[in-house]
Amino acid sequence: MNATHVIYRLGSDDAEDRQQMNAITNMVNDVFSIEDEGMWRPGHTRTSVDRIVQMAKSGELVVAELDGELVGVIRVQRIDDRTAYSSMLVTHPDHRGQGLARQLRQYVFDYLRRLGITTLRIDNIAPRYIDRKATEFMTDWNERAGYVVVGRVPVEEVHPEVAPMLLVPCDFIQYERVL
Ligand SMILES: CC(C)(COP(=O)(O)OP(=O)(O)OC[C@H]1O[C@@H](n2cnc3c(N)ncnc32)[C@H](O)[C@@H]1OP(=O)(O)O)[C@@H](O)C(=O)NCCC(=O)NCCS
Repeated sequence: MNATHVIYRLGSDDAEDRQQMNAITNMVNDVFSIEDEGMWRPGHTRTSVDRIVQMAKSGELVVAELDGELVGVIRVQRIDDRTAYSSMLVTHPDHRGQGLARQLRQYVFDYLRRLGITTLRIDNIAPRYIDRKATEFMTDWNERAGYVVVGRVPVEEVHPEVAPMLLVPCDFIQYERVL
C-alpha cells in the first residue's frame, strides 16, 4: 500500500455510528451493483443498514480507512472453534490495485490465528452459463492466495431466500484455506 491505511475490526460502539453504518452499506451496495450488473432483479441490494449494524454489533466487520474515509470492508464470522467464514470483501474503486484487499484479508488471517482458528472458508458467486469478470478475477486470486476449491453448489441450495432474486442461475464456488 502506498498511503497509510488504518485497518480495524468494528465493535458494538461503532454500530451506534449511523454515519459509518450508512457509509459501509452504501459502499458495499454501490460496488456490487456494478460488479453484479445483470445478475439480480431490479431492487435487489447486497446488504442493508440493519444487516450492517447487526454485523458490526457481532464483531464481524473489519474496515480500512484512509484519512478517516472508508475505503474497504470485509466480513468475518466464526463457525466453530477451528473454522471461520469470510465474505463481502470490497474496496473503493478509487483505491484498487494498491494491495488494500490483500491487507484486509491478511488482517482477518492474523485475527483468526490469534483465536486458534485453523480453517477459513470463503465462496465466490459464479453464473452457471455466462462469464463474470469478478468471478474470474477472484478465481485467479484465490488460487494464488492459497485457497482450495472444496465444492460448487447452486445458490438455491445454500441461500434459498435470495435465489428468486437472481436473473441467471448461479452457483457458489466454495473454498477453504489453511491458516
Ligand atoms: C476484488 C477487490 C476486493 C480487490 O481489491 P483491491 O484492493 O484492488 O485488491 P489488491 O490491490 O489487494 O489486489 C488483490 C490481488 O489482485 C491483483 N490485482 C489487483 N489489481 C489488479 C489488476 N488491475 N489486474 C490484475 N491483477 C490485479 C493484485 O496483484 C493482488 O494479487 P496478489 O495478492 O497475488 O499480488 C475489488 O476489486 C472489489 O471490491 N471488487 C468488487 C467486489 C468483489 O468482487 N469482491 C470479492 C467477492 S466478495
